[in-house]
Amino acid sequence: MADKRHMCLLGRTILCALLTGISGAEVTRVFFSSGEDVRLSCNNALSGCTSTTWFYGRLSGSVKLIAGGVKTDTERHERLSLGSDCSLNIKKVTKEDRGRYSCRQYVNTTHHVDDARVFLHVLHVSSSSSQSEIRSGRSLTLFCRLYYYYYDRVSCDALVRFEDLDLIWVNQAGVNLQTDSRFQISFSSGQCNISLTTTLLNEDHNREWRCQLKHRDQLKTSATYTVKYPTPSETKPPSPVTSSKSASAPTQAASADSTLIPVGSSNSEKKSSQTTAASTEQETQTPQTPETTATQRGLN
Ligand SMILES: *[C@@H]1O[C@H](CO)[C@@H](O)[C@H](O)[C@H]1NC(C)=O
Ligand SMILES: *[C@@H]1O[C@H](CO)[C@@H](O)[C@H](O)[C@H]1NC(C)=O
Repeated sequence: MADKRHMCLLGRTILCALLTGISGAEVTRVFFSSGEDVRLSCNNALSGCTSTTWFYGRLSGSVKLIAGGVKTDTERHERLSLGSDCSLNIKKVTKEDRGRYSCRQYVNTTHHVDDARVFLHVLHVSSSSSQSEIRSGRSLTLFCRLYYYYYDRVSCDALVRFEDLDLIWVNQAGVNLQTDSRFQISFSSGQCNISLTTTLLNEDHNREWRCQLKHRDQLKTSATYTVKYPTPSETKPPSPVTSSKSASAPTQAASADSTLIPVGSSNSEKKSSQTTAASTEQETQTPQTPETTATQRGLN
């Protein structure tokens, strides 16, 4: 907060207004990795969810996902559900799911209480190589990108600095690879991604590299890439993508929260996340990414 005021005093009025929130309404920000199951809570839940309306929006407008406790969205129908506490559940979140989610509770036909708003940010890891190119001696580049959402077209640079976000690549032991000469790591603020490039070694088979997102020094979510070399003699089944709600307790991935998604290659990206931070009102848009959802005007 002190930092924000300081920046405001420095005269960055517009950015300041954007970042600290003009309306002052409270927004919860959550960070997940693609593939995870997400639960967005409706903090203002009234008893029963028959009046619950969930909106989803990006800069271009918004759509109703749930109206009167009933699903109205068709595009993501299968993956959405309303929890018993009126929370919105999204299965296997994708980067396209990022954006603003608002839960509205009507007390009667005309009046509703203040919307509970959640900004969903999604971390996604991808590789420059196809499975057939993954082998010892080859170069491999991994991209870890934060698909963020903001009230306006705020640059990733501004967001990262202002919110104190940190994207890093770590090894299995959690050691930052930035200073390891084996890896070239570069942050592209235009795309909000951090890439890791290395030449693969024999012993890299089954090795994991993990991209972590920290918010004010707190781990929010992480996505793991596991190197898999082809085994010539056998046809391997596709590797699973595993999700876990807790980055600090990897064992949990194997139990309660784990989901298995067959993927085309045998290299897998494992994601885990913790999180949710309430704080200032903000919103992000990754300018390079086209809006993928057709939306109509008019939400909050
Ligand atoms: C709805 O609730 C509000 C706030 O409690 C009240 O002022 C208003 O008169 C109510 N309207 C109807 C149609 O009951
Ligand atoms: C990540 O950034 C690099 C530039 O450093 C770019 O070449 C690459 O396409 C980006 N990848 C993704 C998935 O955005």
